[in-house]
Amino acid sequence: MRKKITIPDILQMKKEARRITVLTAYDYPYARLVDGGGVDIILVGDSVGVVVAGHDTTLPVTMDEMLYHVRAVKRAAPKALVVADMPFMSYQTGIEDACRNCGRMIKDGGAEAIKIEGGTNMSHVIRAISAIDIPVMGHIGLTPQSIHRMGGYKVQGRKDQAERIFEDAMAVQAAGAFAIVLEGIPAKLAADISAELSIPTIGIGAGPSCDGQVLVIHDILGLCEKYSPKFVKRYAELAPVISEAVKCYVAEVRAGEFPTEEHSFS
Ligand code: KIV
Repeated sequence: MRKKITIPDILQMKKEARRITVLTAYDYPYARLVDGGGVDIILVGDSVGVVVAGHDTTLPVTMDEMLYHVRAVKRAAPKALVVADMPFMSYQTGIEDACRNCGRMIKDGGAEAIKIEGGTNMSHVIRAISAIDIPVMGHIGLTPQSIHRMGGYKVQGRKDQAERIFEDAMAVQAAGAFAIVLEGIPAKLAADISAELSIPTIGIGAGPSCDGQVLVIHDILGLCEKYSPKFVKRYAELAPVISEAVKCYVAEVRAGEFPTEEHSFS
C-alpha cells in the first residue's frame, strides 16, 4: 500500500534520483483524484486566484481564501504531502507577519509545508520560517507575484540574468528550504541548478532535468481554454465534455425528459 509522503521522503527521492510528481489542487473533489492518482505533493497554489476565481493575476488572493482551499484539500489527501502557497503580502512585510501567517497555514489549514516566492531577497524570511520548523518550498525564476516588476509572464534567467537566478537558488537552499520550484527559466540553467543543489528542484517551464515537475491541474485537464502556455501538456480535454453534459441537461429539463420516475421519490 502507498505510504504517506513526508519531507524526509522528498529529500530521499532526490538522493535516489527518483522523480518527484507535483500537481495543484484547490478543493476536495480534485484533491481526492490527484491524491488517488499517486502524486507525491499536492500544491495548493495561489494560481487558484486565476484558474478558479477568474482574476488576471495571483495578486488579489488572500490568506482567508488560501486557508479555505488548503483545508478542503487536506481533508481529501491522506497520502500526498500538502504544500500551501503563501499569498502576496502575507510574508513580504516582515519576519513576524511571515511566521504568523505561515504558522496559520500549518495550524489552521493543516498544510505540512508552505511555499514562498523569491530568492536572495527572501532568504531572511525563509531562514526564519525554517527555524520554527515550518518546512519551506522556495520558488524562483518567473515568480507570478512579481508580475509588475517582470512586465508580464516572461521567461527569466536568459543571458546575463542567469547568474542572478543561480545565486537565488543557492540562497534559498542556504536559508533552509527543503525544495525549490524553478519556473519559466531556460532548461540548461535549470539543469545546472539541479546538479548543484542538494535539495530537489521542481520544474514548471524549466525543462526535463529538474528533480520533479509541477503543473496546474486545470491546465493538464484542458479546462483553461483561453490560453495554454508552451510548457503545459494537456492530458485530457475536459472543457468540451463538461459543456456537452451541461447542454444535454438543459435540453432534457426543457423537454421534460428529466427527471423521470427513476429520479423521483414515491
Ligand atoms: O500557484 C501555483 O500554482 C504555483 C505553481 C504553478 C508552481 O505557484
